[in-house]
Amino acid sequence: MSAEGEPESRNVPDQLLYLDNAATSYPKAPGVVEAVVEHLRDIAGNAGRGTHTFAAMADRLLWETRRELGALFGTREATRWAFTLNATDALNAALKGYLRPGDHVIASPLEHNAVARCLRHLEKTRDVKITRLPYVPGMGVDPNDVARLVRHNTRLVVAVHASNVTGEILPVRELALEAHNRGLTILIDATQTAGVLDLPAEAWGLDMVACTGHKSLLGPQGTGALYVRPGLELEPPRQGGTGTQSERDEMPTDWPEAMEAGTMNGPGLAGLLAALRWLRRKTVRAVREDELVLMRHLIAALAEIPGLHIYGPRKAEDRTGLVSVNIGDEDPAWAATELEAQGILIRSGLHCAPWAHQCLGTLKRGTVRLSLGPFLTADDIDRAVAALARIAAVAVGVR
Ligand SMILES: Cc1ncc(COP(=O)(O)O)c(C=O)c1O
Repeated sequence: MSAEGEPESRNVPDQLLYLDNAATSYPKAPGVVEAVVEHLRDIAGNAGRGTHTFAAMADRLLWETRRELGALFGTREATRWAFTLNATDALNAALKGYLRPGDHVIASPLEHNAVARCLRHLEKTRDVKITRLPYVPGMGVDPNDVARLVRHNTRLVVAVHASNVTGEILPVRELALEAHNRGLTILIDATQTAGVLDLPAEAWGLDMVACTGHKSLLGPQGTGALYVRPGLELEPPRQGGTGTQSERDEMPTDWPEAMEAGTMNGPGLAGLLAALRWLRRKTVRAVREDELVLMRHLIAALAEIPGLHIYGPRKAEDRTGLVSVNIGDEDPAWAATELEAQGILIRSGLHCAPWAHQCLGTLKRGTVRLSLGPFLTADDIDRAVAALARIAAVAVGVR
């Protein structure tokens, strides 16, 4: 059992240092493991199916989770949060549910394949046209470019809140303003920022926000959510039972049922609820402050390593808790193997975001990505930096 406020990570040997939190967070927030177990053991019902005690318990849990998401993202209408399998599922639901044949989309140049591949598919199947915002290394994305790229058939701007390759934070508030000035809808992919950066969806006028439960929200895999502002309707992503209006063989139009056919991931969402409650107590601001302390330390120390190239902004404030690097011309996979030999687990290669790698010129080999979580310490950062310094010294033959 973990001590009060401490995350549970008992199956990972002490000598392993996990720095792949951008892929999925580990350990999870305190209370997540217990909440999943409790759901499987004690909440036997299926939410929305039946009126008995167990079904009501399961239903209440989903509503509490929607309300916690609303509190996190500053949205008032809990019905407008639909649960999904993950961010990919949420982004597919948003893009496929909103875009019509012949529509034009303006996308950020740093989109993950969850958006890029979905748009490519819609290009083929619905003749959707895609324009990427220009990317200037060192300058990032300019929201004013939206006005320049708008066409008569443009309906959507889609942007990732922070890149999973460089960690850089995009000006999504300004992009939303530009989009709305032109009468466009905006969709934000908050996968890498939910729980770390504030994203007040209503105050910033965000029409749709997608997130995943298992990264910086510190919940279980198999959970995600899509927020769609009241009044914006989407085609349902799938058809099936919802436990409501069962006399009809068409999907209900009421939310969230319209978006949630089939049984939800009750145990996973119980875990997500525990994580969201932990985050509310801790506060996003405190998580971010801790992250900034570690990131300033990490970036400054990495900048001292000869032969090591850091991608993305130099200022910690301009990025989330991840950094991509390369050691000279060395293969990132080699660096990952060397790091693992020293007990450090990171991700190397391409990070499912070919557009971002094109922007950085790393499409061929990718990068070495270190990504932090809220339970790491300055000692952990020192250990990772020392390991990278040793590897870089070998690579450049400085020994
Ligand atoms: C920016 C971004 N968007 C979307 C995704 C997809 O998330 P998931 O695998 O939870 O669907 C990821 C995953 O790495 C991501 O980093």
